[in-house]
Amino acid sequence: MNNQDKAKKLAGETSVKHIENGMYIGLGSGSTVYWMIRKLGERVQNGLDVKGIPSSRQTQEWANEFGVPLTDFSEIQELDVAIDGADEVDPQWNLIKGGGGALVREKIIAASARKFIVIVDESKLVSQLGDFKLPVEILPFGWEVTAARIAELDGEPVLRRDGHDAFVSDNGNYIVDCDFGVINDPKTLHQQLKQLTGVVETGLFTEMTSEVIAGYPDQAKTLQKS
Ligand code: A5P
Repeated sequence: MNNQDKAKKLAGETSVKHIENGMYIGLGSGSTVYWMIRKLGERVQNGLDVKGIPSSRQTQEWANEFGVPLTDFSEIQELDVAIDGADEVDPQWNLIKGGGGALVREKIIAASARKFIVIVDESKLVSQLGDFKLPVEILPFGWEVTAARIAELDGEPVLRRDGHDAFVSDNGNYIVDCDFGVINDPKTLHQQLKQLTGVVETGLFTEMTSEVIAGYPDQAKTLQKS
């Protein structure tokens, strides 16, 4: 296992300490979350009684594989905790998410949780957001028009592809990956994008994070907000 994978594993496994009996848990997506679900599955086999809501088909499959019981929002509308990865985390704990294409469900889950814990390896910690291209989920109908409006905001949108075809999210939508350069004001940019007809959601997560667990090859640290 390389150092980055060791760091992801430590961050993911450490986050499971926050989970207590009886909790409803939002399960994020991505390779760091994989380790969280695996560890959570071990605790469930040892008697922990919890239920999770998955943010992607992949996460649902991992939860089934590791024996983590699942539910959905018809049973519960407020989660005790959500745990998810990120593509970038700034010092104010604003995030870019959506590298895996699950940003809409991830945001619904994070917004429904009393506590939102972000698990990342150290490479995701940045001084300012924007190096990672911002994923924006848009409706397939008229996507060219929506992309043109995003381009007017200087976003340089590129349609995400899966081979030759457009990548299609779990929600049946497209994603454009946008280069805004350094993002100085994530909240305002998010609001500008959300006002465009055809935009479903952006990968900017602001004022949502409760805690960041950063993984290093030999330890995981819980970060302080600056
Ligand atoms: C999924 O849409 C993303 O938001 C992931 O949370 C993000 O890409 C982090 O993934 P890794 O843990 O695989 O780096």
